[in-house]
Amino acid sequence: MKALLLAGGLGTRLRPLTEHLPKPMALVMGRPWLDHLIRHYRDQGISRFVIAVQHRKELIQAWVGDGSRYGVSVEYSEEKELLGTAGAVKNAEPLLGERFVVVNADTAHRIDLNAALRFHERHGGAATICLTRVEDPSSYGAVALGPQDEILDFVEKPDKDEAPSNLVNAGIYILERRVLDHIPAGRPASIEKETFPLLIRLGCGVFGHPLDGYWMDMGTQERYRQLHWDVLDGRFPLESGWQQRGDKNIRMGEHVRIAADALLIPPVVIGDRVTIGGRSIIGPYAVIGSDCRIGRGVRIAHSILWDNCRVHTGAQLNRCILGFGMRVGPHILHEAVCNRTGEMPR
Ligand code: GDD
Ligand code: MG
Repeated sequence: MKALLLAGGLGTRLRPLTEHLPKPMALVMGRPWLDHLIRHYRDQGISRFVIAVQHRKELIQAWVGDGSRYGVSVEYSEEKELLGTAGAVKNAEPLLGERFVVVNADTAHRIDLNAALRFHERHGGAATICLTRVEDPSSYGAVALGPQDEILDFVEKPDKDEAPSNLVNAGIYILERRVLDHIPAGRPASIEKETFPLLIRLGCGVFGHPLDGYWMDMGTQERYRQLHWDVLDGRFPLESGWQQRGDKNIRMGEHVRIAADALLIPPVVIGDRVTIGGRSIIGPYAVIGSDCRIGRGVRIAHSILWDNCRVHTGAQLNRCILGFGMRVGPHILHEAVCNRTGEMPR
């Protein structure tokens, strides 16, 4: 069974980070999110992936390649123009088999795929939609779930007081090939606004499988930051390759140079080959990407720096997100989010 990862959107709510970068390539703990996602699904038994790409597709293709770096095979389904979430699935039809998993590539989660497949087989529907519970369903696809796990209603981004429940679409589906017969070819279409409501109306069998555990759509700056703090606080386990030092919540890569009188306030994560100057105070809640150079007397809290940033002596960063290779002068920045180009580290 193949997994189709939807990774072509513009990521408008995460701009400017995604101006030149596909959203699933945003770094999370030093690695593109897509990297974590492919590894997780591989560990769940998926060996063949299709990635539906459009916006800045060359960056995904350069990083993931044919999948051999993960020990899996990866094919690409390219859209000339954005076809929407259903259009992207339809466009991938020649690469898909009788049954496949579809995943929104911007959601952080852990899935027990075998359990989801058993659920899908037991119910025998055309589609299984994995669900998660949220406080405010208005940013998601909210569902009404019947007593036999059947989805009675699917409402994409409802007004808060009109949502059928706070069980929402987690962005992970198991679909039978016959679903593709209900998606128009060659024009944009939304799986949430068109396909699911149609399948429900036609009685094709659409079932909801609630997932356990952590779930986060990283598609806004707020949620992208929160995902990091949740990893730092241990609410979502994610491998970074950087080791915990001592019993404090400080993780560090290799060849890090920190001045003796710099202060790290946990939780903090510091990538490979980072240098931190004297009297700097880093943390709490700071993720410093590999090869960053932090000057003297710098303060960084509640901020995420991607690789190769330079932060000048005396700068202060609070609640900032800096993209690859950003330079910061001796300024005080609050909630600044910037990214220059789509350059990726090797
Ligand atoms: N290839 C391709 N083409 N991919 C696309 C397109 C497209 O035209 N449009 C969106 N995508 C990809 C995005 O890159 C993203 O990874 C995924 O599809 C979902 O798109 P979002 O733009 O992030 O959707 P959303 O967060 O507003 O809502 C969706 O996800 C929620 C869960 O995270 C919906 O599926 C909701 O129902 C759901 O609750
Ligand atoms: Mg999203």
